[in-house]
Amino acid sequence: MSEPLRLQKFLAQCGLASRRSAEEMIRQGRVTVDGIKITDMGTKITPEMQAVCLDGVPVTFTEKPVTLLLNKPKGYVTTLSDPQGRPIVTSLLQGITARVFPVGRLDLDTEGALIMTNDGMLAERIQHPRHEVKKTYEALVRGRPNRSDLHHLEKGIVLEGKKTYPAAIAIVGKMPQSTLVKITIHEGRKRQVKKMFAAIGNPVLSLKRTAYGHLFLRDLPTGAYRILSANDLKNIFL
Ligand code: URA
Repeated sequence: MSEPLRLQKFLAQCGLASRRSAEEMIRQGRVTVDGIKITDMGTKITPEMQAVCLDGVPVTFTEKPVTLLLNKPKGYVTTLSDPQGRPIVTSLLQGITARVFPVGRLDLDTEGALIMTNDGMLAERIQHPRHEVKKTYEALVRGRPNRSDLHHLEKGIVLEGKKTYPAAIAIVGKMPQSTLVKITIHEGRKRQVKKMFAAIGNPVLSLKRTAYGHLFLRDLPTGAYRILSANDLKNIFL
């Protein structure tokens, strides 16, 4: 028989969510063990002996891991449901029966690379600050950011009381009223790229994520996805 393990770890290993999202599910009272609602994060279970349910549905260890890269269109939410009835990214995954979930988020009006997986451990690794997975964006910003402001962003600026990690920035296109900027960051703070450019007075007009590490969107059409190979998964961490 296997060793007792923490409930959130079990849920992540079953591929239902990253460990952090699993904790959120527990906190929300969505998880029961042997019919009893558990909200205590310290709870340990023995999988073979106990029945775990999420939203009343038994959780089992059966799905094989599936990870894909979606080119998210603007106007889609990256949550698994939306009380306001807006389109959700999973509706774009025709042919995928595995219960994949988004790794991190993209804003409603942001497009581009979104990894989705049913492998909770992989999701955890991608999102953990220790692995510093690089995320690259193309941001169309208003006006023409000046060199010294961009240098400040590269070194890190204080957003909501916390300094951002160093970023890499390059201007890749110049239009009369706007500038296309490539920016690579290691963090996933909420609306981070928009906040960084707003802070230097060049608000983001549109935003696209083009890569995680060395895993690039390439010519994947908007709204389409591709299943990731073992090699693709390695490239995420480069
Ligand atoms: N930064 C943002 O501001 N928005 C996103 O969707 C992703 C990164």
